[in-house]
Amino acid sequence: MEVIRKISLMQKKMEDLRRKGKKIGFVPTMGYLHDGHLKLVREAKRFSDVVVVSIFVNPIQFAKGEDYESYPRDEKRDLEMLKKEKVNFVFIPDVKEMYKEDFKTYVEVMEFQDELCGKFRPGHFRGVATVVAKLFNIVKPHIAFFGLKDYQQYVILKKMVEDLNFDIKIKPVETVRDKDGVALSSRNTYLSEDERKLATLIPRSLILAKDMILGGEEDAEKIKNAAKDFLKSQGITNIDYFEIADPDTLHPIKKIDRNRKNCLIAVAVRIGKARLIDNIVIRNGKIFNLPKIKEEKEKKNKKDLN
Ligand code: PAJ
Repeated sequence: MEVIRKISLMQKKMEDLRRKGKKIGFVPTMGYLHDGHLKLVREAKRFSDVVVVSIFVNPIQFAKGEDYESYPRDEKRDLEMLKKEKVNFVFIPDVKEMYKEDFKTYVEVMEFQDELCGKFRPGHFRGVATVVAKLFNIVKPHIAFFGLKDYQQYVILKKMVEDLNFDIKIKPVETVRDKDGVALSSRNTYLSEDERKLATLIPRSLILAKDMILGGEEDAEKIKNAAKDFLKSQGITNIDYFEIADPDTLHPIKKIDRNRKNCLIAVAVRIGKARLIDNIVIRNGKIFNLPKIKEEKEKKNKKDLN
């Protein structure tokens, strides 16, 4: 595994590999890796000859007052994990080389960037699209992997690739969760034990909404209110949004279509210092990101029996 920190060296290595006909798979990350990131790496291994992972906490995707400074970082541990996965290259650029003092160019995916999280994180998706465009020009991948946990990010980057004619295939990867259904996230480290318990309400609220939809409820407002009431009554009071949206345009849906074939159910809440997001996607009648929750009760009952 080779660790590269200089942009020009990365570009040269990747160009050489391309010339040799190697298929380059790319997994961009902000580090502090977990099994969600590793699933992306494993998918990349399956679909490419050479796997590149980038680790870069991108300052321009954090709004003022967000957690750029305190975002968890552990390069040594990350590199050990990636070595075990037999990753070929890790790109760890320097923030000063990525954003020189006279940096002026940004990528914006209009409209999509203003929905859902965009309403609460000004400039976030502009920062994401810009850094990913830069990384694509440095790593020159044939195929890049993104988690559906950040569904809006995935949709925005797919649109960017389409609109700007990047010759890169974007592959979505389903959300990896803990046993209790909570989506893995580097930001889960901000949670105390009690807060971590509260986080289990997030996947439960999504399932509640999904069940109402599959049960025939067509009024999105009713579903959203039921989910929000559930979260609030159980102790999550700081809800940025609970939204039901079109999975392609990300625009809110008022009435669920009769066939219940396409919708995004997305939630963002704040618990303590952490802002956590999650979603379920129904596309062509298939359900993605569905949380599987192992019931605590079962475990307790078993313990009682013992
Ligand atoms: P980061 O949050 O580190 O996530 C890197 C990639 O891992 C993203 O594609 C994200 O969707 C995916 N991921 C995170 N948690 C996951 C989980 N539980 N299951 C499956 N995939 C998961 O997303 C970013 O970094 C940044 O915005 C980035 C794209 C690197 C640009 O800076």
